[in-house]
Amino acid sequence: MAGLIPQAFLDDLLDRVDIVEVIDRRVKLRKAGKNYSARCPFHDEKTPSFSVNPDKQFYYCFGCGAGGNAIGFVMEYDNVDFPQAVETIASSQGLTVPREASRDGQPPQAQESAGKPLYALMEKVSLYYQQQLRQHPDKARAVAYLRGRGLTGEIAKQFQMGFAPAGWDNLKNALGESDELTQLLVKAGMLVVNEKGRMYDRFRERVMFPIRDRRGRVIAFGGRVLGDDKPKYLNSPETDIFHKGRELYGLYEARQNNRRLEKILVVEGYMDVIALAQHGITYAAATLGTSTSQTHLERIYRLCPEVVFCFDGDAAGRKAALRALEAALPCMEDGRQARFLFLPEGQDPDDAVRAQGREHLESLINNAMPLEDFLFEVAGEGLDISHLDGRARMSKQALPLIRLLPEGVFKQLMFKALAERTGLELSSLMALQAPAPVFPDDAPPAYDHAEPPPNADPYFESDYQEESQAPVRPPRGYSNLAQAAMALLLHRPDIARLVKPDVLPDEQGPDGALLRELLALLHKRPESSTAMLLGHWYGTSEGNLLNRLAGQERLIPTTGIEEEFLDTIHALTQDIPYRSKLAAQVDKLKSTNYADVSELEKQQIRELLQEKAQRDARRNKPG
Ligand code: UTP
Ligand code: MN
Repeated sequence: MAGLIPQAFLDDLLDRVDIVEVIDRRVKLRKAGKNYSARCPFHDEKTPSFSVNPDKQFYYCFGCGAGGNAIGFVMEYDNVDFPQAVETIASSQGLTVPREASRDGQPPQAQESAGKPLYALMEKVSLYYQQQLRQHPDKARAVAYLRGRGLTGEIAKQFQMGFAPAGWDNLKNALGESDELTQLLVKAGMLVVNEKGRMYDRFRERVMFPIRDRRGRVIAFGGRVLGDDKPKYLNSPETDIFHKGRELYGLYEARQNNRRLEKILVVEGYMDVIALAQHGITYAAATLGTSTSQTHLERIYRLCPEVVFCFDGDAAGRKAALRALEAALPCMEDGRQARFLFLPEGQDPDDAVRAQGREHLESLINNAMPLEDFLFEVAGEGLDISHLDGRARMSKQALPLIRLLPEGVFKQLMFKALAERTGLELSSLMALQAPAPVFPDDAPPAYDHAEPPPNADPYFESDYQEESQAPVRPPRGYSNLAQAAMALLLHRPDIARLVKPDVLPDEQGPDGALLRELLALLHKRPESSTAMLLGHWYGTSEGNLLNRLAGQERLIPTTGIEEEFLDTIHALTQDIPYRSKLAAQVDKLKSTNYADVSELEKQQIRELLQEKAQRDARRNKPG
């Protein structure tokens, strides 16, 4: 890696700059108590849930979960990469960004705006393909193909569709005017180099779909054969400017076509997006041959509150839906909705809209199955829930899924719904696996600590009794002790000195591992501020968690932080081993596809739960 920005400079920059000024220059802020607030620039909202904390120099949106430090804000808001955001902020402070020479001795500037020439080149490539669709001697075949699929010239133009003619070096000859440009075409993934060093066009004899980023810049292409050759679709490889796991085909166009997006329909294919648009359904987007990721969903939810996933009604579609459910659950903050639409087997949205028209498909979309129904359907699959045993099993299948939900009213409602469907006691259900009371102490309890039902499942029953004794439980608002400790550290980084960096045992699950890293970093750089810590993990899934924890300031006690931190760490180190093993298993469930969890692992979790029940029972025996 060439030209890294030295950490010391970043720390210094975050020290000097005031995030309130940086944000206020872009979004007008209003003072609200000791913080500032505004309507969130990253999602559509009527009442402000976006808040900026001047003391700790970070921002957080309670509506969409966006959060981070000043650099992160500029990246998101100005839509620039990390080095560019640093440049912007530095120059506002009259500073020049120093660069560390890289190990391979490359000039440090090489990295600086690596993206820029690529964007310009991709734009030229896209124009070239569009021109070929209008002018190439073979254009008739491509045009006929598109017409045959029901597309008008107008829609082809809107999606900037193009044509890559047959031949090995059309693009290379047209745009590779110099060695430098040829190399750049390789870097952009448009030319392929074979083992013998020969270069040739990646896309040949295909209709071309440019993939545009959220600013409308062409960053990659998909290409489809005109007939039945294989592979049917070819896609750009990952490049400096294209990351499959983040991009959605058609999202830019959907934004262009709708002043106000109410929902996004997530489909599988390029042609689905375009055919739907052709029929007036202009809010579809497609993942690029990958399954829907949490990153995809976070991007969508910043634009609108609802996602409808559309799947083929066959087994593969069902599997894809399970993966989508897994990815969606952690994103389901209050106010967001996800629904699942299963089309008849063998039909994709393109077929459906062409066969039955817009109105029919839109009524299917509007009546798609809500996430909660789908979750229970999945959890109860193959079980006889007319018997207690089946219902207990269903609750065990549903719990790890419900636990993936972020804290909030929706999660509460899901627990309630599970209790209703299984006839099991709500408080016992909630207590199972590291209980996480959601409401602050002063709020009314969400559920009653009533008597356990006479015939409750034994695991739950013993848990219920433990509830009232409440031995080790995470403080309000966090789903485990490690998160509680991290929240305290984020708000008062200096308290890290109270414990040894290696105080925690291994085997704590991902949250525990992150807490260990946080402690290690704070011991190495004790002067780190909240903003620096958030910056360190910016843009990663750990970063998202830390943002969320930092945003829960209202849950941080105003006095006794040090004691609470020590208590929490103590609990973590003393915590009964099975509990952390259980937590690790559950954490693992969160990071894997539910469908892929092996029977063995499920068995292990069951055993851990049994062990827990037995221990609890022993502990609760008098004497
Ligand atoms: P489908 O095969 O379902 O595509 O693949 P489709 O859109 O219905 O294709 P048409 O209607 O025959 O044109 C869905 C998506 O999977 C990826 C592409 O992103 C495609 O849009 N895919 C499919 C590939 O990347 N390569 C392939 O060979 C096939
Ligand atoms: Mn199709």
